[in-house]
Amino acid sequence: VSSEPLKVMISGAPASGKGTQCELIVQKFGLVHISTGDILRSEVSSGTEIGNKAKEFMNAGRLVPDEIVTAMVTSRLSREDAKERGWLLDGYPRSFSQAQSLEKLKIRPDVYIVLDVPDEILIERCIGRRLDPVTGKIYHLKSFPPESEEIKARLVIRPDDTEEKVKSRLEIYKKNAEAISSSYLNIMNKLNGNRPKEEVFREIESLLLQVRKDTVKTTKSG
Ligand code: AP5
Repeated sequence: VSSEPLKVMISGAPASGKGTQCELIVQKFGLVHISTGDILRSEVSSGTEIGNKAKEFMNAGRLVPDEIVTAMVTSRLSREDAKERGWLLDGYPRSFSQAQSLEKLKIRPDVYIVLDVPDEILIERCIGRRLDPVTGKIYHLKSFPPESEEIKARLVIRPDDTEEKVKSRLEIYKKNAEAISSSYLNIMNKLNGNRPKEEVFREIESLLLQVRKDTVKTTKSG
């Protein structure tokens, strides 16, 4: 029996490790990774109309207006690859009204993962974070230093990773978290994200394998 493609949502505060876990999930499960943060950063660096509108909000650590982000996500989700391989939505929904938009379109995940990490660790993670603009890979100066001098030399710092902006992003996250998760309580899995990334991934992996088994069963009987 071939299983239905998985539909996964991953949530958590800034620097809780969503992007890091998504790299590992994609390697193992082949899902289409849709990260609103990544898409927006690439629009900004290409200087598109969306990018120009989004830039000031992102750099200030505030949310980009719903209508911009929602249109972006729904068009990406409707593409053939996402339907065929399944999807991994990272960074959306981020407000109650974004969650409502998906509900209206009957777009629901099989599982809703929340990474839980204490505040003081989140701030330290943002301050040490570096991005490789060539591969898109996420590093940390202390926890995950780059593999070579060549990579190290090209790493960039996100403009919203200063202590002050991280605090404001965290506050916005906390204000919205409960309202968003209320839409997904029956499929929510809160995991301790304050452990080595391999350990966090092992738990996500067994969760997704279980969810995949359950979807096969439901498909067979239903
Ligand atoms: P986005 O890019 O989604 O930012 P975020 O939610 O703040 O999340 P981060 O990317 O900061 O963190 P992460 O959880 O992916 O952690 P990472 O794996 O990198 O959004 C950016 C902006 O875009 C928003 O502020 C907003 O303006 C806009 N935006 C996006 N979506 C939007 C939406 N839906 N609506 C409106 N606006 C939107 O890890 C962080 C660091 O920790 C790294 O250095 C990593 O190496 C390290 N690390 C990871 N895991 C571990 C571990 N287990 N142990 C130790 N270190 C670790």
